[in-house]
Amino acid sequence: MGKREVVLSISGLNTTLGKKQILHNINMECYAGEVFGFLGPNGAGKTTTIKTVVGLLLLDEGEIKICGYDILKDHEKAMANVGGIVENPEMYKYMTGRENLKQYARIRGLDFSEIDKAVEIVKLTNRINDKISKYSLGMRQRLGVAQALMHKPKLLILDEPTNGLDPQGIKELRDILKQLAHEDGVCVVVSSHLMSEMELMCDRVGIISEGSMIGTYTMEEIVSQSKGRFAEYIIETDDAEAAKAVLGGGDGLIAQGEMLYLNLNSATAKEDIAQTIKLLTQKNINIYSVHPKDSKKLEDVFIELTGKTEGGGQIA
Ligand SMILES: Nc1ncnc2c1ncn2[C@@H]1O[C@H](COP(=O)(O)OP(=O)(O)O)[C@@H](O)[C@H]1O
Ligand SMILES: [Mg+2]
Repeated sequence: MGKREVVLSISGLNTTLGKKQILHNINMECYAGEVFGFLGPNGAGKTTTIKTVVGLLLLDEGEIKICGYDILKDHEKAMANVGGIVENPEMYKYMTGRENLKQYARIRGLDFSEIDKAVEIVKLTNRINDKISKYSLGMRQRLGVAQALMHKPKLLILDEPTNGLDPQGIKELRDILKQLAHEDGVCVVVSSHLMSEMELMCDRVGIISEGSMIGTYTMEEIVSQSKGRFAEYIIETDDAEAAKAVLGGGDGLIAQGEMLYLNLNSATAKEDIAQTIKLLTQKNINIYSVHPKDSKKLEDVFIELTGKTEGGGQIA
């Protein structure tokens, strides 16, 4: 793979709102052709960052470039290359999808011929003449994406686009965003507090916590990092508590009903599990099954890196 084309670059972004410093030295780069997930719990600073990128919030310290154009010094060129949805896009419910897009095209001075292409991308062609009031939330969100795409931006940035969507709506949106990135070369940036969604949608994630960027990771890095260090096993036994006691308790052991969960170092996991089975059998504890558990994923890495679960204590 050649050198990747940087579409969005943020460096040294500090933001203070009121008297509180919200963002602390945010640095990140996003590339053409990728879906980049901006992941962090509620209140982490995702919306603040995105608002600054799309020009809804004044940048007070740091530098943001879109396709190489500084958003302050080359504001118009920078903005010509970004399309975004922050919070819900304004739509007129009594008008049809097409009428809404026409209205938007008029305001932005865009050619009406862009409407059909954008609508096709978001797969709304056969509903575009229906009134918005008849649209599902997912369809409205897709219409918002169509609107954001009409001036053919290189950067599409969406703040929590799957909020409130049902699983089908999430899948439809995910497929559209992946296609935009992977087939049309758009740099798609989506924020979310839902790790499971980012895992399915993104090529890379940047993790933000309390206004600071913890790091950026490719999905492969997350999967291999987690595979490398730990191996989890589940032992089904007749008495998990007794089994835990036989093994000497400890942090890597959790007993739950008939299940004993073991967190092993992957380098020694095989010997450890053989030894464990031997010990339990010697103590007359019956073992019914032993299963390796799926390796840790984004969620575990996130908790490890930030020391917390995602916003609201909700694990997705
Ligand atoms: N206008 C504002 N004035 C003061 N604080 C704000 C303002 N907007 C957001 N904040 C605070 O900034 C922090 C980050 O908010 P936000 O960027 O909305 O986070 P996220 O989108 O990741 O949930 C939060 O603590 C929030 O309370
Ligand atoms: Mg937000």
